[in-house]
Amino acid sequence: MAEQAIQTCNSVSQLRCIGCGKTALADRFRCEHCHDLLEILYPGWDEHGAAGRDARALKTLWTERRLSFNPADQSGVWRFREILPEIDAQKIITIKEGNTPVYELPGCAKSAGMDQLFAKHQGMNPTGSFKDTGMTVAASFARQAGYRWVACASTGNTSASMAAYAARGGLHSLVLIPDGKISWSKLSQSLDYGAITCQLKTDFDGCVRVLNEVVQRMPVYLLNSVNPYRVEGQKTVAFELLEQFRWESPDHIIVPGGNLANSSAIGKAMREMKQLGFISRLPKISVIQAAGANPLVRTIRETGGEKLIPVQAETMATAIRIGNPASWKKALRVIRETEGTVEQVSEIEIAIAKAEIGAEGIGCEPASAVTLAGLKKLVKQGFVKPQESVVLILTGHALKDADFTLKFHRGDLFAETPLESESEILKSQQRAPLVLEPNVDAVIDLLRAAED
Ligand code: F0G
Repeated sequence: MAEQAIQTCNSVSQLRCIGCGKTALADRFRCEHCHDLLEILYPGWDEHGAAGRDARALKTLWTERRLSFNPADQSGVWRFREILPEIDAQKIITIKEGNTPVYELPGCAKSAGMDQLFAKHQGMNPTGSFKDTGMTVAASFARQAGYRWVACASTGNTSASMAAYAARGGLHSLVLIPDGKISWSKLSQSLDYGAITCQLKTDFDGCVRVLNEVVQRMPVYLLNSVNPYRVEGQKTVAFELLEQFRWESPDHIIVPGGNLANSSAIGKAMREMKQLGFISRLPKISVIQAAGANPLVRTIRETGGEKLIPVQAETMATAIRIGNPASWKKALRVIRETEGTVEQVSEIEIAIAKAEIGAEGIGCEPASAVTLAGLKKLVKQGFVKPQESVVLILTGHALKDADFTLKFHRGDLFAETPLESESEILKSQQRAPLVLEPNVDAVIDLLRAAED
């Protein structure tokens, strides 16, 4: 079947500093006056809506596009192009990202003390993580701006996604990852998609420092989440979620926090949906971090959000092993504006939550499971009420870190660590593979035993 040409009708956008509000050139990341991060705004939006259409017209248009064969309409990001920056239709790189499912998780609801619980699974994107929704916009912008090279520092998912979109768009890509601190499956993706992949003997924050120098000296376009086009693409998860909830805002959205761009993007989307009249109240957006990688939690608790407290990050949830998050000010603003909160969870709590999500036949990677672990705490504290509607954002697919899952079930995730004795409580959830002779009776005996 011949693919129709992609047509776009985006809003005119402008880059502005989140600190001083000054405008910036389209391919910058930080304000040249005060060095704060930039964000994309749409000065043309008014009471008539985005790209000249009001909320009602947009809701209908976006839903209708689900039946279309136009490649842009089949993308769960470009389907919402009226709220995205202008990109030349011929330059768009899409792998049919977005359009991810919402699942109900009754078992997890019960263990968290909730009547009902939902998860929006961003791990169901083409490369297995939420990064694809942002990457389609930022990689397309790179192509439009004429860059031949793109690059990122990553804990594994950004690099997998960037490598895929670069390959699809005919761009070269450079990946810097911390040596030995990301999952093999993520590393294998960027190799397979053809990126030049460097394992640096440092952590994620060290990779960022090196890359920031590289992009200043070479004509390479940075695709880390300080890139404001990434944030625009990642916004669409919130539009899609609200569409799936018939434009009724849930009471709470719970997001894992690493470099803090995703929580920023979801908050920006909610702010814009309110401005455009899609919703009348904002959901509370709360960010959960691993206790060993908790700079935002410490920043809020110890300085009231005045000053970032960077930490030396350490967690088995390697995707969020980040101590110096670039987008902390954006995330802080979202938490304040939506009256959300922050919480931190232990390694054992993450492992339990991940197993519970897996036991629902859904699964996710460890970094995503912090959302359920955090929710349990927020319910206990009374911040989330059992009758409220809650959506967890699951950011990565279960197969992103199969090593973690295997170690968990074999019982050696915490072997020879200070948590070894505490990890005894995981036993009831562990299902180690059973090695048997090829004997029918042996298998039937096992079945009978499992029935009892
Ligand atoms: N969940 C997963 C699975 C991630 O890969 C990341 C970030 C996050 C949550 C946190 O999102 O940084 O926007 O707060 N991964 C990045 C990477 C840093 O390089 O793949 P955030």
